[in-house]
Amino acid sequence: MKIQSIRGMQNLLPAQTRRWRWVERVIAGVFDGYGYEQVRMPMLESVDLFKRSVGDATDIVEKEMYVFEDRGGDRVALRPEGTAGCVRLAEEEGLLFNQQQRLWYTGPMFRYERPQKGRYRQFDQIGAEVFGLPGPDVDAELLVLTAEIWRALGVDDAVRLEINSMGSPEARAAYRGRLVGYLEPFRDELDEDSQRRLETNPLRILDSKVPRTQEIVAAAPRLADALDEASRTHFDAVQRLLDQAGVDFEVNHNIVRGLDYYTGLVFEWTTDALGSQGAVCGGGRYDGLVEQLGGKPTPGIGFAIGVDRAVLLCEARQAFPAAVDRRALFYVMPRAADTAAAMQTARQLRAAFPGEGVLLHLGGGKFDKRIKRGLATGALGAVITDEADGTVEFRPFSEGDRIECPVAALVPLLRQRFSQLTELSE
Ligand code: HAM
Repeated sequence: MKIQSIRGMQNLLPAQTRRWRWVERVIAGVFDGYGYEQVRMPMLESVDLFKRSVGDATDIVEKEMYVFEDRGGDRVALRPEGTAGCVRLAEEEGLLFNQQQRLWYTGPMFRYERPQKGRYRQFDQIGAEVFGLPGPDVDAELLVLTAEIWRALGVDDAVRLEINSMGSPEARAAYRGRLVGYLEPFRDELDEDSQRRLETNPLRILDSKVPRTQEIVAAAPRLADALDEASRTHFDAVQRLLDQAGVDFEVNHNIVRGLDYYTGLVFEWTTDALGSQGAVCGGGRYDGLVEQLGGKPTPGIGFAIGVDRAVLLCEARQAFPAAVDRRALFYVMPRAADTAAAMQTARQLRAAFPGEGVLLHLGGGKFDKRIKRGLATGALGAVITDEADGTVEFRPFSEGDRIECPVAALVPLLRQRFSQLTELSE
């Protein structure tokens, strides 16, 4: 029997990988523009790290984590998210005490969820974590930065931002008591998950998707009314800054997020373009987390974008520039069998069009077959070298005239014709 990939784990083929790389490059470019610095965390961490940060009673830790014992007998987990590992890294490397850090990371995360389109057991996130800044200015910067990412990807009209405040831990604890008091009489009418959460994590009941539970929740006391003064002021200031920056948002009091470490601002970017897996980015403030993991009290805030979903969204919106789907700009082949001249021309073209693909025909074959192979790459045209008389022909695959010229004249002529095109593909 053939061995197949594990359920929920994707293979990415070259055409998809080109699109992924573009999305990653665009997002990295936005981070560079804001002066955020990249870190790389390991994919394996101690199980306890996630239990103590994401939370013991969350779905992620309780049901979805890949946990195993390594050969030395240590309990380790494939990371289900990046925040915990980033905090651990920052603390361990001494980046936190009396400092400000604006960091970003990318890589695969692992959650044992039920796979469907847009939901995988291995998926990629690109995330940011900011440490040492308690004010609403950084909350606003992060949201402006994410808005900038959607704009740079060309999908800004397909996403919307919802924000909420979870309040201080004390305010939330008091609210939790009131919420349980309200829900208790409805216990038997709640869905099974929510009944369980009544003991473990009652706030999560607020964002249940089960209709009867939603009806019950609609009349529940609101977290917004239980906010402490400091959280309320902070939340108002963030909203003002977003208004001033021209970032549209809605306040949604039922956003509570599926991870335990949040305090204060939480947010989600969602889209209608991806069916039920519409959350493309989530994040919020976690001012207690560093201390909870053994460090000195340090404010923190961050977000993560699901890269798989960002790529699907760009596909749904046809946001990819044509160049992304092109394997190469030029397909270089000898007119007869003089591979050496073709190879030399290909090298000149690579030097003249850095970062663009120049694909050399290999493997011989009849002239027509070679042209066909070139056409299939999506290149703009074939460059056909002729060693016998030192000339070269550019034969466009779609519109435009052929060019026939001495080899030395080729690069300037192609540059002239395609200057605009290559600028667009940047
Ligand atoms: P999260 O909301 O659990 O937050 O995940 C962030 C994003 O990852 C989601 O909005 C979604 O796009 C993507 N995602 C999550 N699960 C899957 C899946 N199974 N398949 C595909 N994509 C998925 C966090 O992980 C927090 N660490 C974010 C954060 C950073 N908060 C503060 N700092």
